[in-house]
Amino acid sequence: MNAAPERGASAPAGAPRFPFPIPTGWFPVAFSDELAPGAVRALRAFGRELVAWRGEDGAAHVFDAHCPHLGAHLGVGGRVEAGGLRCPFHAWLWDGTGRCAEVPYARKVPPKARIRAWTVREQANLVLAWHDAGGAEPWFELPAVPELGAPDWTVPERREWVVRSCPQEMAENTVDEAHFRYVHGTHAVAETESVEADGAVFRVVSRNRVGTPRGEQEGRIEIEAHGFGFGTTRFTGVADLLLVTTGTPLDDERVHMRLQFSVRRLADSDATRGVGRAFLAEIERQFAQDIPIWEHKTYLPRPILCDGDGPIAALRRWSRNFY
Ligand code: FES
Ligand SMILES: [Fe+2]
Repeated sequence: MNAAPERGASAPAGAPRFPFPIPTGWFPVAFSDELAPGAVRALRAFGRELVAWRGEDGAAHVFDAHCPHLGAHLGVGGRVEAGGLRCPFHAWLWDGTGRCAEVPYARKVPPKARIRAWTVREQANLVLAWHDAGGAEPWFELPAVPELGAPDWTVPERREWVVRSCPQEMAENTVDEAHFRYVHGTHAVAETESVEADGAVFRVVSRNRVGTPRGEQEGRIEIEAHGFGFGTTRFTGVADLLLVTTGTPLDDERVHMRLQFSVRRLADSDATRGVGRAFLAEIERQFAQDIPIWEHKTYLPRPILCDGDGPIAALRRWSRNFY
């Protein structure tokens, strides 16, 4: 029988570290500028081999990697041609919808010849694919991030990491308020002002106090997750900062994190650079501190929580939307 595990108990030895399948949502497969018009890239995500390519018309596409004819990998020698992707093995041409448009040596294209074309969006400097555990079409969209590319915000800086963890754990970390003090040594535990779960969106607003050369100042942090794959964090107070965080499950145990950050320009460009540099250093420092915890922790289905823990239980309830 499947009795609920005891509170605080971990899974038996040999059980998977995370009791989750790969969730539903929008997940990046590349930064937009990594896929120039005419480019083809082999990649791995969602435990699958995929290929991303961009037509001469600028539209990005993500296909299953293996050609349905005889199984060649389209990301290894495939070419963008005639509005489609040409297989390197026998030159079948797959159009942007995944239909076979041409077999150059056959009189008739087999009517069933199709390759799986993933639903793709391009937003926030990213090419994102919709992964749905049940094979359904997207039931939510991602928000615009107006700061990215705005003249009064700095050109976003990027960092990437591959972490041995799973998307739900990464999401949980953002709302785990107590760890900021004990893992990251931040000044104080932020105080949650509001928590809201609305469909695919989970939003937390909190206040914190930050030490500055001019004494302590009040700051506001607004975190928004749109599923597990895409989130924004906006800090306001001493300076206005934006962090766009994305995590793509490569397989059951690895997540490719892509971060972009930008600072609202101050009147003085040296000051802007200084704030940007400090922000970047802080993010890198926090990641370096989080990684050993993430890579060795286990997921407890029934943890023992206390009143200072932040909205972890609410996040877990919201998480059920994506399985
Ligand atoms: S395997 Fe792709 S055309 Fe034959
Ligand atoms: Fe952290």
